[in-house]
Amino acid sequence: MTTTPVHVTVTGAAGQIGYQLLFRIASGQLLGPDTPVVLRLLEIEPAMKALEGVVMELDDCAFPLLAGIEATSDLKHAFTDTNWALLVGSIPRKAGMERSDLLNVNGGIFKPQGRAIAENAASDVRVLVVGNPCNTNCLIARSNATEVPADRWFAMTRLDQNRAETQIAKKVGVGVAEVKNLVIWGNHSSTQFPDFANATVGGLAVPAAVKDDAWLRGDFITTVQKRGAAIIEARGASSAASAANAAIDTVVGLTTPTAPDDCVSVAVTSHGEYGTPEGLTFGLPVQVDAAGAWHVKEGFAIDEFAAERLKITSDELLGERDDVRQLGLI
Ligand code: NAD
Ligand code: LMR
Repeated sequence: MTTTPVHVTVTGAAGQIGYQLLFRIASGQLLGPDTPVVLRLLEIEPAMKALEGVVMELDDCAFPLLAGIEATSDLKHAFTDTNWALLVGSIPRKAGMERSDLLNVNGGIFKPQGRAIAENAASDVRVLVVGNPCNTNCLIARSNATEVPADRWFAMTRLDQNRAETQIAKKVGVGVAEVKNLVIWGNHSSTQFPDFANATVGGLAVPAAVKDDAWLRGDFITTVQKRGAAIIEARGASSAASAANAAIDTVVGLTTPTAPDDCVSVAVTSHGEYGTPEGLTFGLPVQVDAAGAWHVKEGFAIDEFAAERLKITSDELLGERDDVRQLGLI
């Protein structure tokens, strides 16, 4: 077993996603069975009592890998020496809202958190933003923490990838592990583009395996784009267990080598890859090499249909960037 524990900060730790996430991290599902973890749990004052209860439950699990728990409402304490910061804490949307409607209420959370990360985190810190609208919240935090290199900032589009893979696997009638190389381009919003054309299923290009272009270009895309809203409608609350699962998948995907025929969907800082606007936090196909370094995977074909959709989601993200500039958040 590695002896030095890895510090993982989870914000919004007493919330729905937090409750689904912490026990999996503490059991070793985030960083593996040989890595002890210190959990640094951030909440706002009114939720500290609830967080106390969650800490009691963590204690009562007697996880051998859990080397410590720091529960706090203080930003500095939450991010001190942290190696992974999972920024979940923020308000979820209600039925009838778009995620971008949350920018006014949630955006302000990420500016001070960005500063606190820059000033207190470990030198190798990596940050995954889950709180919505996650791409632009990540942009806010990163823009306020320029000391932390741009390649350490991520926003979560993995839940969309998992949703898209399941839709395709069900349509073809195979297991979900057969679906590979599926990227979610752009924003974690209803403009995202789940790219079926570059994905494969059972080694075949998805369009050739599915043999239903109308479905791929229509219901498949809209089902994935609107899945979050469908869950809110059905459950009366936004996705939590599947979101926590996707956060685990994202970190595992970013810390283990990617198979050559596959990719990890995650929103990263664009350097103009595939014509995307530089500086945005943009959903792109990522690969991790044997040394643990990540890069944007090359070679995805962008046809006219895809180019139109990349433009729509780019324009939305540019609009969100303008909005947060006006709010003085970046
Ligand atoms: P929740 O309301 O159950 O929990 C949020 C928690 O955050 C609460 O306990 C609250 O007290 C805390 N919080 C609020 N402001 C905070 C702050 N400034 N600092 C620290 N903590 C703070 O919500 P949830 O269901 O856990 O969802 C959290 C966020 O994740 C929402 O914005 C939701 O839309 C988003 N989300 C994103 C994805 C994705 O795929 N990117 C998926 C699901 C949910
Ligand atoms: C999701 O995709 O389930 C989350 O982003 C929650 C939401 O608001 O849709």
